[in-house]
Amino acid sequence: MKVLVIGSGAREDALSWRLAASPSCEAVFAAPGNAGTASRGVNWGIAPTNGKALGARCKAEGIDLAIIGPETAIASGVGDRLREAGIATFGPDRSGGRLESSKIFAKRFMERHNIPTARAAVVHSLGAAQKTLDEWTGACVIKADGLASGKGVVVAADAAEARSVLEDWYGGNRVPGGGADVLLEEKLEGREVSVFAIGDGRTLHTFASACDYKRAGDGDTGPNTGGMGAYSPPHGFPSDLNAQVQARIIAPAQRGLDADGEHYIGVLYCGLMWTDKGPYVIEFNARFGDPETQVLMPRVDGDFALFLKSAADGKLDTGAASLGDRACVGIVLASAEYPRSSAPLADLPREITLPDGVNAFWGTSTQQNGSVKSAGGRVLTVSALGEDLHAARMRAYDAVRDLTQRFGSATGLTFRRDIAQLTK
Ligand code: AMP
Ligand code: GLY
Repeated sequence: MKVLVIGSGAREDALSWRLAASPSCEAVFAAPGNAGTASRGVNWGIAPTNGKALGARCKAEGIDLAIIGPETAIASGVGDRLREAGIATFGPDRSGGRLESSKIFAKRFMERHNIPTARAAVVHSLGAAQKTLDEWTGACVIKADGLASGKGVVVAADAAEARSVLEDWYGGNRVPGGGADVLLEEKLEGREVSVFAIGDGRTLHTFASACDYKRAGDGDTGPNTGGMGAYSPPHGFPSDLNAQVQARIIAPAQRGLDADGEHYIGVLYCGLMWTDKGPYVIEFNARFGDPETQVLMPRVDGDFALFLKSAADGKLDTGAASLGDRACVGIVLASAEYPRSSAPLADLPREITLPDGVNAFWGTSTQQNGSVKSAGGRVLTVSALGEDLHAARMRAYDAVRDLTQRFGSATGLTFRRDIAQLTK
């Protein structure tokens, strides 16, 4: 089959790499793609949010399966447009995507369907927020309602800090994402883990779990980023983690989707806090994670294209793909000022030779005469398989050292040194 991957990051590069290696996949396309996807298939110069143009091109090229990578594409209704055009699509419609695009919608969904999550209040103005905070004791998490590229969440140590953030959002700057709706929620204590379920519109199948690292600096310091590294499987959680999440979160979520009449096809990404009372949902996303996908794709056995196509067709073939036993660790190489700014980097080598089981997935980038021009930000994810997490970690950091040397110090690429450093 002919498969289209929508998006331009390292997540989409990893997806296209795995899809291209699937027995049932004859050709891979990407829109707009990047330097990595260009070496595996054909890039289309179409924006990921341009559903109409994507639908027309998919029909013209005879695409059998389209996979939506970024949340902006889901939120702008690309899933709806592609399905209207008759294209089998993996990725929810805009309405299902509200589980990610509106934190208030997601919170109401969880409350309605008894899915464990932090207690929360919704406010629309500074006055209302202040009133709520007057009754608040302890730490509080403030969340802008809409998509804000990771900038819409502040974990405040106490009500005073929360007040000053809200004064800034409502009084001065503006609420991230541009709306006025804000969620105030109780801070959960525990360890974070992400679980990925695959939806075919009728059932959600728990497929994989991973841990990612959102802060820029070692030891979880510095500003929030899109993610600086990840590993899978998670370490230090109950051995029946996936089964517990299936029972407590994913099964009630499917019942909720059914009750709401929502035909959800795509990934339900459950960002969880593992508390002393078990898993609580911090957030839902409606897509694969980045950089989690870069550590999940190397672990996938079977025919991933067939697997996603069966979901898109409404009847998931759970036997088509599964995760192997090996562990995988991924380290993001970011440009010097990330996440404060993203200066482009030119003349990076296009051909990167790496040992077996080690991959480098490009972030947003283009090819130019045999070299790569990166948009900066998260430039590359280096991802290594190993018999266990320790072995995978060693191989990943060896490859990172080798690559940064080959790229030269002038590139100023930075990375975290503590990805998958296991303490427990
Ligand atoms: P989100 O964008 O909702 O995933 O939030 C970004 C980050 O903020 C999460 O990965 C957590 O580290 C943190 N966070 C969000 N909500 C909570 C919460 N209720 N309790 C503790 N930490 C939270
Ligand atoms: N790694 C976090 C995300 O994809 O949202």
